[in-house]
Amino acid sequence: PWRKAWIDPSSFPSPPALRATLARRAYEVWISEIMLQQTRVAVVIDYWNRWVAKWPTVEALAAASADDVLAAWRGLGYYSRASRIHAGAKLVCADPDMLGLLPAGVAELVDKVPGVGRYTAGAISAIVFGRAAPMVDGNVLRVLSRQMGVMGDVKADKRVVDVLWEAAGALVETVARDGGEGVSDRPGRWGQALMELGSTVCTPKPSCGLCPVTSTCRAYGEGYARAVEKGFSD
Ligand code: ADE
Repeated sequence: PWRKAWIDPSSFPSPPALRATLARRAYEVWISEIMLQQTRVAVVIDYWNRWVAKWPTVEALAAASADDVLAAWRGLGYYSRASRIHAGAKLVCADPDMLGLLPAGVAELVDKVPGVGRYTAGAISAIVFGRAAPMVDGNVLRVLSRQMGVMGDVKADKRVVDVLWEAAGALVETVARDGGEGVSDRPGRWGQALMELGSTVCTPKPSCGLCPVTSTCRAYGEGYARAVEKGFSD
C-alpha cells in the first residue's frame, strides 16, 4: 500500500526558488508543446535541447534578437510559431501579472499568451501545475473516439471534437480526484499517456493486441476498431 514519505521541511524550496522552478518548467513545456504541434518527437528533441541551452529562461528568450530566434527554428517549419513564441516571451516578462511566470489556469493562458490555444494551455496547466486540465491532440481524439464508440468524422465535425474535449475534461477530473494520494502530477501523466497510446498503439491502423485498455474500449469490444480509421487520423 501507498505510504506517506517523510520529507524534511528544511529541504522545502523557498518561495522564490519554487517560483523560479515553476517559471522554468512552464517555459520549457511551452516551447516543447509548440515545437511538437507540427513536428515529430524524434525530430524535436535536438531542437528543444539546443533552444533551452541557448535561452534557459523566458527572460533570456525575450532578450534574444528576432534573427537568432528564427535561426534556432530553421528546419522546424511554420516559422510564424517562432515569432509568436518570441512575442509571447516579451509579453510574459513585461506583464505585471506574470513577470516571467506563465499563469496556471487554462483560461488565463489562452487569454494572456499569444499563440497558446486550448491544447497548449491544457498541457502547461496539467503537466507543470498539476491542474485537472484536458489536453487533446489528434491522437487523443482517435483514442477517445474508439474508447467511447463515438462514430463521426473528427476532422469535419466540430461537434465531435467538442464532445471529446468535454469527455477528456470529465475524465481528467476523476483522475485528479480519485487518481492517487494527492499525487498532483496525475493529470499531466494521464494526458501524456493518452497521447503516447495514440501515437504508438491506437494508431490509424491500431495494434489492439498490444493495447492495455481494450477491456474498456467500445470499438474493440464491438469489433470495429480498425474501421475507426478514415477521418480519425490526424
Ligand atoms: N506530443 C506532444 N506533446 C506531447 C506530450 N507532452 N507527451 C506525449 N506526446 C506528446
